[in-house]
Order: sequence, then structure tokens, then C-alpha cells
Amino acid sequence: MPLSIVILAAGQGKRMKSDLPKVLQTLARRPLLAHVLDSARALQPAAIHIVYGHGGEQVRAAFPESDLQWALQAEQLGTGHALMQAMPSIPDDHRVLTLYGDVPLLRPATLELLLERAGEEALALLSVLLDDPTGYGRVLRDNAGSVYRIVEQKDANRKELAVREANTGVLAAPAAALRGWLARLSNDNSQREYYLTDVITLAVRDGRRVLAVQAPTPAEVLGVNDRLQLAQLEAEYRQMRARALLADGVTIVDPARLDVRGEVACGRDVQLDVNVVLEGRVVLGDRVVVGPGCVLRDVSIAADTVLLPYSVLHGAVIGARCSIGPYARMRPGSVLLDDAHVGNFVELKNTTLGAGSKANHLTYLGDARIGSRVNVGAGTITCNYDGANKWPTVIEDGAFIGSGAMLVAPVTIGRAATIGAGSTITKPAPDDALTVERSRQVSLTAWRRPVKATAEEREHEIARARLPKPPPSE
Ligand code: UD1
Ligand code: CA
Repeated sequence: MPLSIVILAAGQGKRMKSDLPKVLQTLARRPLLAHVLDSARALQPAAIHIVYGHGGEQVRAAFPESDLQWALQAEQLGTGHALMQAMPSIPDDHRVLTLYGDVPLLRPATLELLLERAGEEALALLSVLLDDPTGYGRVLRDNAGSVYRIVEQKDANRKELAVREANTGVLAAPAAALRGWLARLSNDNSQREYYLTDVITLAVRDGRRVLAVQAPTPAEVLGVNDRLQLAQLEAEYRQMRARALLADGVTIVDPARLDVRGEVACGRDVQLDVNVVLEGRVVLGDRVVVGPGCVLRDVSIAADTVLLPYSVLHGAVIGARCSIGPYARMRPGSVLLDDAHVGNFVELKNTTLGAGSKANHLTYLGDARIGSRVNVGAGTITCNYDGANKWPTVIEDGAFIGSGAMLVAPVTIGRAATIGAGSTITKPAPDDALTVERSRQVSLTAWRRPVKATAEEREHEIARARLPKPPPSE
């Protein structure tokens, strides 16, 4: 039976107190709905429908993907009413699975288990045992253990409120039967809403098999209603990701102080120190060590490279046995070949640093192609921007750049060239030679240190320093 997934996402999320629709609030830097879509797509359904409402256009714009179908729920009249909005575009021979746009941690494996246990014809729901089920609908079972009803918190009596098995909102049913039940829903309840959960009672009445499968852990079915829950889910997500890396053999100094927000592939014996953040696609080779406070986004690092504390890398490709930081910054297009060293307060952008080359202190290298075994002295700056254009700098193999050099691009430093400290280089520097650009050093023996001026002398000096007024224009 082809599967149609419906994600209910029309709720406003008032308790977030935000201008952003709830499903666009971010967990691990991605919208809640993006996480739900990941799980949905993992099931390879025939179709994914999203029921949207409040802030709808903003939500649609955030997800332009062509595999999504959108159903507008103009007024929020309940979860049953929400599902009804998607039903017209779902064929009778499909199976429907409902998810919530604000429940981001649900694993595909749990959904697969539910679908498998249910078989194609049953009405199946995912439930969860909670120590404190306050706010949730309660799953009511008869003496034989069969589910016969879900009662909402606001409609439940004291005995029903004591039930700890809660409804998660995940529900699977054959489309044709579901359509019939939805048409029979009423809003005769304390909230005047069309409850999706009432389809359970209707299915039981029709003699349909109804079953509840319990989620393995409460964490993955938690929803986001307010900022506190969002922060709690973020912590939960952090732990899930850290545990997965630990299971893969990565050393993590403190799993509670690692944030994995993207796709991470690690070789053997990788070490991650505290307060590391990994985002986007991160590939870490064997024995890579990432020091405390490093932030990596879309970075690939080859074996045995060490990142010293507080280095920030974005869009960088790093070779083997490199040493980076502390306090290094690599911006997009940074490439380090094997055995390169980048030290403290060094910034690279769109720059290749060749094998065995070093830039160890206080340096900016932008739009530069730097060969192998080059030594870039402290305080070197590639002046790549003239206020209108970015220009390239080329430094060939074996060059030595003295401290405090300004390399005004476009410029080329030849093979094994030496640049004298403090030079401002504007013309090509030839191979093997020493190129130095510096004013002559003088020492003035007659010079005296200034003494404190009187108020009158100050006024006079300041007036003298003023620019003359331009002549009046015609
Ligand atoms: C719902 C369930 C409850 C369950 C709980 C789990 C019903 C009647 N109740 O309650 O049994 O324990 O979820 O969190 O189904 N939505 C719409 N349109 C609407 C109303 C809701 O799209 O008109 C969406 C929301 O955006 C949200 C989801 O449906 O993603 C759940 O809505 P919410 O209001 O949180 O449901 P609860 O009352 O908490
Ligand atoms: Ca809710």
C-alpha cells in the first residue's frame, strides 16, 4: 500500500511568544519542520502533505522542495479538522501516517515499527508511557488491554487522568476508512474542536483492529510548545548525537558539552574536547584532535591534524598532520595541504597554504595561492581589496615573508624569494632575491620629548591644525 504522510503544522504556537511560526523555530539550527521532514522522507512515502495555517506563507517559502504538497487550514478547528484538509488529495488505496510539525526527534525506526505492527488495515497509534502525562490525551484500554478511546486532558475524569499512557499524535490508518471516520467527527467536547483522536472510538465501533504501540523512549515523541521545551529538546538532541558518535568510537571529553548539528563522519580515534560545535558536513580523519571551543562548519580534515583551542573553521579543507590555532580562523575556500601550520590570530579566506608552509602569528591571508615550505612572518597581510575589487596574491615555493609585510595585490612573490620585514610590496618580487621596501632609519640626537602645553598654547596649536575653509562656490 503506498504511504501518504500528513504533517500537521497549522498550530500557532502562542506560548513561544514569537513572530516566527512554531514549526520554523530552530532545533540544532534547523527548523523543527525540517527535522520532521527528515524522518518522513526516510520512510520513502508516495507523498508528503503539510497542513499549514498560521504564518503559512512564511512556512511554505522556507520549504520550496518539490516533493511537498500543501493544504491550507484557514481556521484551527482541531487536529481532526487539520487532517481533513489534506484528505482530498490522498487516494483511497493509500495508507495515511500523521505526524506533528512540532515533534522533531521522532526516529524513522520507531515509525517503521508502528507501520509494521499495524499491518495495512488496522488503525494504529503511537503512545508513550509518561511519569507526568499532564496535557496529553490518555490512551484508554479495556480489561483485555485493547484500546477503545483517547480522552483529552480537558475532557477526562479523575480516573482517566491517572492513566500514564499518553497519545503522541502519530497515527496510521488506511485512507478510505479514515476518510469515513473523519466525516463523522463532531466538535461536541470541552474545546469545541474536531479531535483526530475521536477516530479511535469510530474505528472500534466499526469493528476495525485498533492498536497502540509504545514509543521506546519519551524523548523522541516530545513536542515543542514553549521555549523551555525547545531548550530541553535541544539538550536531548545534543545527547542523542553525542551518544551516536561515542558508539562509533569517537572520544568525547564531555558528551553534554558537544553540539553536533550537522552530518559528521569520523575516522578512528578522533578526540573532541569540550564546547566543540560541529555544523553542516564535517569529516574528521583518523586521530584528528579538536581542542576546546572549536567551531567547525562544512569542514574536512585529514588524519593526525590537531586543532588547538578556540579555532573557527568554515568551508575549509585541511590536509594531514596540520596544526591549527589556538584562535585561528578559516573562512570559505581555505585549503591547507599536509603538514601546514596556522597559528594564533591568523585568518585565511579563499587561500591555499601549501605543504609544510607556516603562518604562525597575527596574519591575514585572503585570495592567496601559497606554495610549499613558505614561511609567512608575524603580522603579514595580503592587501587583497582596493575598495572595489578583490585581487590575488601568489607566493611561490620556499619563499620567506618577513614580519609585518604588506603584500599589495595583485602581486607575486617568487620562488625562494625573501621579503624584508616591514616591506610594503607592490611589484613582483623575483626568485631567490631579498626584496625590501623600507624608509631609511634615522636617529635625531637634538630631538627633545614634548612638555605639557598651557591652555593657551593648546588652543593655538589646535587652530593651526585646522583645514582652511574652502572658498565660497559661485
Ligand atoms: C494533541 C492530541 C493529544 C496528544 C497531543 C500530543 C488531539 C485532539 N489531541 O493534543 O491526544 O496527546 O497532541 O502532543 O489530537 N494542529 C493543526 N491544526 C489544528 C490543531 C492542531 O494543524 O487545528 C497541529 C498543531 O500544529 C500541532 C498538532 O496539530 O502540530 C497538535 O496540536 P496541539 O494543539 O498541540 O494538540 P494538543 O491539544 O496538544
Ligand atoms: Ca501539543
